[in-house]
Amino acid sequence: DKKITIAIDGFSSTGKSTLAKQLARHLGYAYVDTGAMYRSVTLYAMENGFIDSAFFNSEGLTDCLDDISLQFLFNPDLGYAEMYLNEENVEGKIRTLPVSNLVSLVAEVSAVRAMLVKQQQHMGENKGVVMDGRDIGTVVFPNAELKLFMTASPETRAQRRFEELTQKGNTVTFDEVLYNVQERDRIDTHRKDSPLVKAADAIEIDNSDLTIQQQFDKVLELAKNAL
Ligand code: C5P
Repeated sequence: DKKITIAIDGFSSTGKSTLAKQLARHLGYAYVDTGAMYRSVTLYAMENGFIDSAFFNSEGLTDCLDDISLQFLFNPDLGYAEMYLNEENVEGKIRTLPVSNLVSLVAEVSAVRAMLVKQQQHMGENKGVVMDGRDIGTVVFPNAELKLFMTASPETRAQRRFEELTQKGNTVTFDEVLYNVQERDRIDTHRKDSPLVKAADAIEIDNSDLTIQQQFDKVLELAKNAL
């Protein structure tokens, strides 16, 4: 069986991970959530005093990158892998608004990107992987057989993220979430190193008006053609 690499990039909260998980399960591929890796490095930076809302010691963080160990461990009950930072399951901690508000600043640091890109390339070296993020089709796997670029209106995205956070018991307002989504997109598209941009050969999918099932059917068709 020929295995391919599927790269999914796009703006914040466009449903990349929902789609990536569905595809990975259906194809029997590994799913790698690269946003979780940037979020984990951010959590580490917060917990070790390198960053807060008023200050960022990026050199201090860069000097400590060797102390950060990231692992994805498959959880059979959930059917996908969970993120571990230095042996601790950080799935709950990395999805909160305080981490979301700082992650794009940490993701601008070239040394952080270099470390994570190297690990991502290693995880995908045997293909059979669905990876989502911001630079997967442009930097991590420029030769991926299938590249998708996901978009949806900012309001649609903020509404989805707001519902997700509220369901998990986080106390947030819609406006806070909308601001975070727009601010992250602004930083992610304007940074010097590996900005978020659609790869020339990526297929754009605007899912503002697609159900999760419609989107999956459409993309599965594309994946089958790329196999
Ligand atoms: O995908 P998610 O929204 O969890 O990603 C969180 C943040 O991590 C993004 O807003 C971006 O700043 C950064 N990121 C990145 N490159 C990736 C994945 C995520 O810069 N490949």
